[in-house]
Amino acid sequence: GLPREVRIHEVGARDGLQNEQATVPTEVKAEFVHRLAEAGLTTIEATSFVHPKWVPQLADAAELMPLLADLPGRYPGVRLPVLVPNERGLERALELGVREIAVFGSATESFARANLNRTVDESLAMFEPVVARAKAAGVRVRGYLSMCFGDPWEGPVPVAQVAGVARRLYEMGCDELSLGDTIGVATPGHVAALLAELTGTGTDGSGPAGGGTVPVERTAVHFHDTYGQALSNTLAALQRGVTVVDASAGGLGGCPYAKSATGNLATEDLVWMLHGLGIRTGVDLARLSATSVWMADRLGRPSPSRTVRALNRQ
Ligand code: HMG
Ligand code: MG
Repeated sequence: GLPREVRIHEVGARDGLQNEQATVPTEVKAEFVHRLAEAGLTTIEATSFVHPKWVPQLADAAELMPLLADLPGRYPGVRLPVLVPNERGLERALELGVREIAVFGSATESFARANLNRTVDESLAMFEPVVARAKAAGVRVRGYLSMCFGDPWEGPVPVAQVAGVARRLYEMGCDELSLGDTIGVATPGHVAALLAELTGTGTDGSGPAGGGTVPVERTAVHFHDTYGQALSNTLAALQRGVTVVDASAGGLGGCPYAKSATGNLATEDLVWMLHGLGIRTGVDLARLSATSVWMADRLGRPSPSRTVRALNRQ
């Protein structure tokens, strides 16, 4: 069966804007996040506390967060997670009152090197004190795992390899684990196979092949739409019990350290499908799509989202 409700983890302001050539003014980012909250999104990833030279687009994180300080008061329950790779990033985030962070690991060695300048083991070792210190401070922690399906350097990634790193990330203490199809190559059968291996929610009732399981309630999916499979993949994940789905307003997105990555699943496309299925999201689609049109104007090119285009056709 399908869930009655899905929580959308909106990544447009982070995954979307980290990939833009143009520098988006901090005030425009703040207005973007405010508009996303106004449209009913409750989990809005705001920015990243990474090395400013690695992602110059988000170098203004410390200036942006104060402009969002009134959001939780205005929209009760709204959460503003930020990406944090290491203790330096955590310190910067905690100073600004951040209450939710995300560490981000890789299932493959090639991407761990490209994105974090570390091996997989070294990056997990880098996250460990971050997760421990965050939890001690009462800060919620999400763990991203990238390259869960295919990797631009290594090709298809074995399900057992992904599940192995995912379990280590989860057992470190992450409250939620987001499975990333960084370059958008996954197909629904592959999604089902990974979820079966990781969470034990197999269609045939078989359990995972090795190690412990990650509860499906703690699992989120993060699809990029390179091959147009993101919605189908999402449906496959919902059918296996996932209820948290990452998406990016207007389909913004990509990763500067993974060449073939394009935009995330567009939040509007996701909401269109979910509402069509009678699944609640709390999102006002007209407001959201107006926000993406507004953002597209700021960025100087139209949104790639089919739903945004359909709703705004003259
Ligand atoms: P490094 O060069 O190995 O850094 O980079 P280091 O630990 O050797 O430190 C070097 C210097 O950087 C030091 O300064 C540190 O203080 C400073 P020095 O002592 O030389 O003056 N430094 C920092 N400054 C500010 N904030 C920090 C920070 N950390 C160190 N946080 C590092 C390692 C992890 C920092 C770097 O590789 C990095 O920032 N990577 C981030 C890459 C990134 O943000 N990628 C995009 C997000 S991931 C993604 O998009 C995928 C996802 O969407 C899911 C999916 O689609 O699969 C999440
Ligand atoms: Mg991503």
